[in-house]
Formats: sequence, C-alpha cells, structure tokens
Amino acid sequence: MNILGINYTFHDSTACVVQDGQLTVALEEERLTRQKHTKAFPVHALTRCLDIAGLTTQQIDHVAVSIQPGLDWTKQLVYGLKRGMRLNPFSLLKQRALRAWFEETFTAAPRPKLHFVPHHLSHAVGSFLVSPYESAALLSVDGSGEWATTFKGVGRANTYECFGQDYFPMSLGSVYEAATEFCGFRRNYEEGKTMGLAPLGDPENFGEAVSKIFWVKDDMSLGVDLSYFGYPTYRKQACGNKFYATFGQPRKPGPEAGFEQHHLDVAAAFQKHLEDCLLSIARKLHEHTREDYLVFSGGIALNSVANGRLVRESGFKDLYVIPAAGDNGTAIGAAFYVHNQILSNPRTYVHDDPYMGTEYPDPVIRKILEECKLEHQALPEGALETKAAELLQRGYILGWFQGRMEIGPRALGNRSILANPTLPGMKDKINAEVKHREAFRPFAPSCPLEDTPKFFEQNVADPFMLKVCKVRPEQRAVLPAITHVDGTARLQTVHPDTNPRYYRLLKAFEKLSGVPVLLNTSFNVMGEPIVESPIDAIHCFFSTGLDYLVLGDHLLGKRPLQE
Ligand SMILES: [Fe+2]
Repeated sequence: MNILGINYTFHDSTACVVQDGQLTVALEEERLTRQKHTKAFPVHALTRCLDIAGLTTQQIDHVAVSIQPGLDWTKQLVYGLKRGMRLNPFSLLKQRALRAWFEETFTAAPRPKLHFVPHHLSHAVGSFLVSPYESAALLSVDGSGEWATTFKGVGRANTYECFGQDYFPMSLGSVYEAATEFCGFRRNYEEGKTMGLAPLGDPENFGEAVSKIFWVKDDMSLGVDLSYFGYPTYRKQACGNKFYATFGQPRKPGPEAGFEQHHLDVAAAFQKHLEDCLLSIARKLHEHTREDYLVFSGGIALNSVANGRLVRESGFKDLYVIPAAGDNGTAIGAAFYVHNQILSNPRTYVHDDPYMGTEYPDPVIRKILEECKLEHQALPEGALETKAAELLQRGYILGWFQGRMEIGPRALGNRSILANPTLPGMKDKINAEVKHREAFRPFAPSCPLEDTPKFFEQNVADPFMLKVCKVRPEQRAVLPAITHVDGTARLQTVHPDTNPRYYRLLKAFEKLSGVPVLLNTSFNVMGEPIVESPIDAIHCFFSTGLDYLVLGDHLLGKRPLQE
C-alpha cells in the first residue's frame, strides 16, 4: 500500500511517501528549487520522493492532498459578499495545477485514488496519527486553511472528535503576522524573528492594549477586534490605521533598519498575549478531555517559546509537535489521514525521526570533491568526530553535512552549522560572518538527552528543537553563545539511536571542553533554504565565513588541513 502525500496550498510545498503505514521519505520543494517557502506545485519533490522510495507511478495506490477545495465555500461567499470583496479563487486555480499533474503522471489504469483532506484535519488529526500517544487532546492553530484557523478536539486510537473550529478572520496566526509585519519582517514567513525579538521588549507597555485586540472566550473560541487590521479584507497591509495609532510607526523592512523601543515592546506584548491565549485554550482542553498529552500543530506550533510554556503551565504532561509543524507537515498528515482514517488501518508508525529527506552516499560526495578539485581529508568514524570536535574547541565554525536531510524548518545535526557555545563572541561572529542576519537573533544548542538536566531546566525530550526552556542560571555564563537575553534556549535533545554521528560529536566535544553542548544553526545563509546537496554545501562554505566543512566522511578547510 503506497500513498503519496502532497502539500501545495499556501507555502512550503512538500511531498512524502507512506509505504505500508511507514513514512519512508518527506521532502520540501524549496530544498530542490532553492526558492524558500515556495508554494509551487512540488513536482521536483514528488519525483525525488518516488525515486528515493524506489517506486514507479504505477505502484502508487492513493494520492492524499492536504486541502479540500470548496470546503467552507459558503462561509467564504457570505463573508466576501458582506464586505463587497473580490472572492479568492485561489483554491480553484490551485486545483487545476494538481489535476494537470495527476493526468500527466498517471496515464495508465488503474490510476491511484485521489483524496482531498481538509487542511486542519491534515494538521491536527494527521499529527496525532503519527504521535507517540494512544490518545491525546488535539489543537491546531494557523493563519487559515480553506477557511478554518483552528481545530480543537481529541484523538483516540485512530478515531477523533472535533470540539470546534474558528474561521477566518478570527485567526491567531493572522494577528501574529500583523505584529510581524509591524516589526519590519515578512509576514507569513518571519514570525520566528518576532518571537526572537520579544525578549528584548517590555510586554507590559502595550499589554493591556493587546489584550483588548484578541482573546479567548469561555467556549475556547477566538475573538479579534478586526478594526485594528487590514488583513480581514485582504488589504496589502495586515495592520490597519488604528494599529499604527495605538502602537506608533512600524519599523522599516530589511535587516539594516534599526529598532525603536516601541517595536520591541509590540513584539513582546503580542508574543506574551499569544502565549496566554494558547495556554487558555490548552488548559480548557485539558480540563475537558482529561488527557495527559497534547498534540499541537499548525504554523503557530512552530512558536517554540509558547510551546515551552505549554509544557510547563498547561496541565498536560508533554506535547507532541511534528518537526514540520507548519504546512509542510500537512503532506504527512494527509497521507496518514488516508491510511488510518479513510482506509481504517491501525496506527503502526511514530514520527520520531526527522531525517526523512535526500542522502548522498560517500562515493557520490568523493566524486563531487574530486571534480571540484577540492583538497580534502577522508577520516574514519571516530577520528572524524574527534577532529571536528578539536576544530570546534579552537573556535572554528563548521559546516556539518551528514546522512539524510531533515524535514521541517530546523537543522537537527545533518544540515547544520556548528560552533563552540562557550565562546562569548561566537553569536555575533556567526551572525556577522556566516549567516549575515540581524544581530539580535539567538542561536540554539544541541545536547545529549541524558546530559540535559545539568545544563537546562527541561525535563522532557525535544528532538525537534520546538520547546524553549531556561538555561540553568549557573550555566548561563558557561554557554553565552546559546543563551538568549532572557536566559532561555531553544534546546535540541540528541539521542544516539536517531543521530549516532552527531551524538558522538557532542561527546567528543565534551571530552575537550567539559561541555556536551554545541551551537547548532541551520546550514544556509539568510534568505536561502537549508542546503540540500553537497554542491549547495560547498557553495555556502565558500560564500560565507565558515572555516571548515565536514561533508560525510570528508573534511575540507580554507587553510592547510595539517594545521
Ligand atoms: Fe496551515
């Protein structure tokens, strides 16, 4: 039984393959076309997924798409007519691209069955079906799907119940996008920057004003004062005049523009109130379901600071967020919805391994290095990790390219830039010399799961870097390059079963430095997708201030390797 999963709706187009109930490959289109967050139909990702899975198109039984064109169309129609708005033909045009691909690809009978899975079922139920929990409360929150912006419910075995949904323009995602736009970042793409900026501001300065703009009602539904915004009528600006009258002039877009205090305070107030609203919904869900665990999904589930508070304060013991919690993950969710819900198969898969993408075996890497005439040193297992740890200890910045690429926006030790987190100037150095991005942006740490309690106030695993926690006060001076201004860090816990080489590197670094923690940031430069291939990695290596590059078993430097 082979299912192709597809997300191509709003952004982060993605394809995946589920074979006999197991996810075998998942790949974002942006990595192959180098167009970050692309919403193009993922034809390249689909082709590579089939190739990696070893399948021909004749072997595909089902195609699952994470949107249902026409769903909630009446709601959209009434909303549009009331406001005299041009209707959004988006989903109809998009459906045409899908149909064309389907006709071209599956020319011979029997053709696979095509399923359209509602967007929030792909988020919420799809995430639950690949979660480690037999039963859990479900919450998804994003800008909007077909028209819904949230899903609240419960999952048990392979069934679910929906308690309620909110619909556009009642949207936490859209409200947070407006704050992102106000701070000079690209809305719908750079909400992580708003989250990173928030600790620099005072959430109280605009706290009361923001709490009157959006809120959670007793029945868990959302309220938004739409008079502050332009997004409800698809205006170019997500913020409206009342927003500017309340909070001041927005920051000019671009990394060069400076921040005024009110920009920082807006980021802080919207972040804090978003967290409070999510906590309010989660606590009500906990009370209502009495479940121990929460499965959280949708673009807002990438807000790792909010997730950290949900772990600590919601009443749930832990939460599961799939590594591609945004729309990229809906390709996986839709495929499992078909497998477990529509085809009624029992659940047999847990998505605990994020390394589901492309891989380049050693002979391929060696051939590329030889063709590029690049001096390199091949090192056996063990020696490679020791040598890399030595270089990191000496303060060099490494590109680290290993095994299968991660699915989702976080580099988790296979397409990573690594550095020594104990050096005070390291954050500014990487921001300025390698990533070419805003100086305020923090970097994340990786740490073996068993060493976590010594350095971090985190008592749950976080292999996907999605739950921000406190660095222990006594360790903050030890780890200055990964400790944010508010004493927090977006920790990745590393386990030897899922990433043995990265685990060995952390342990080798501990032998030299006494600290089993590395600074881990995604292997890319600002504005580009994470590197996918050895050629992408080599290009990034030579166009930035990276000192060394480890490509599989091979070490490359910009200075003599014997040094
Ligand atoms: Fe979504």
